[in-house]
Amino acid sequence: MDNKHLFAGSILAADLLDLGNDLQKALDAKVDIIHFDVMDYHFVQNLTFGPDLLKAIRGRFPEAILDVHLMVDPINEKILSDYAKAGASMISFHPEATPHVDRYLSFIRELGAKAGLVLNPGTDIGCLKYLWDRLDFVLIMTVNPGFGGQKLIPAMMQKIADVKALAKECGKEITIEVDGGVAPNTVRACADAGAEIFVVGSALFNKPDYKVALDELHAALK
Ligand code: DX5
Ligand code: ZN
Repeated sequence: MDNKHLFAGSILAADLLDLGNDLQKALDAKVDIIHFDVMDYHFVQNLTFGPDLLKAIRGRFPEAILDVHLMVDPINEKILSDYAKAGASMISFHPEATPHVDRYLSFIRELGAKAGLVLNPGTDIGCLKYLWDRLDFVLIMTVNPGFGGQKLIPAMMQKIADVKALAKECGKEITIEVDGGVAPNTVRACADAGAEIFVVGSALFNKPDYKVALDELHAALK
């Protein structure tokens, strides 16, 4: 495996009635991270998973990297600490969901998790400029959030490059994760633009063999 590139399997596309075994299969196939999408029927028009489910996943997979993507409005201390206590390794939220972005990024780190900010396709990257010291990663949405199985928006390749360039201009380096429509035919462009972590929902869990699916994704990066 090329260490620079990590794949995060999104449980949104997993078999929810057999989630533990499905995640075991994905981890056995060497997926690097489990991506956990939290939706509140308000920030996005869909409803998903709470901290109790995350806790159950953490209990069964003590070593897994659990990446919690909060599509929740508003963000507050309670939500962040619930998911951190439940076992999140990484937590990200959208800047539109709170006036207290700086404070909550710091709070995520105080809780012992890696802190990330998520940018919707229409969200400007300028908000990152004064936050580098609070950020462990930036999650760039390559679709509009809310649902799996959508088509990647090509204009986001420029955005990935722009975030990389902005960080460099500020004398910083930042890990970029991308989410939405990542598949063997799109992953290369994301990587070339500067992304290092790739969320894969349908391109992993909707495939018959997860090892083959991940091999194909890695091969596309060679
Ligand atoms: C979309 C979610 C994604 C989703 C990606 O709002 O944030 O994590 O699961 O699914 P795919 O990979 O199918 O586009
Ligand atoms: Zn996500």
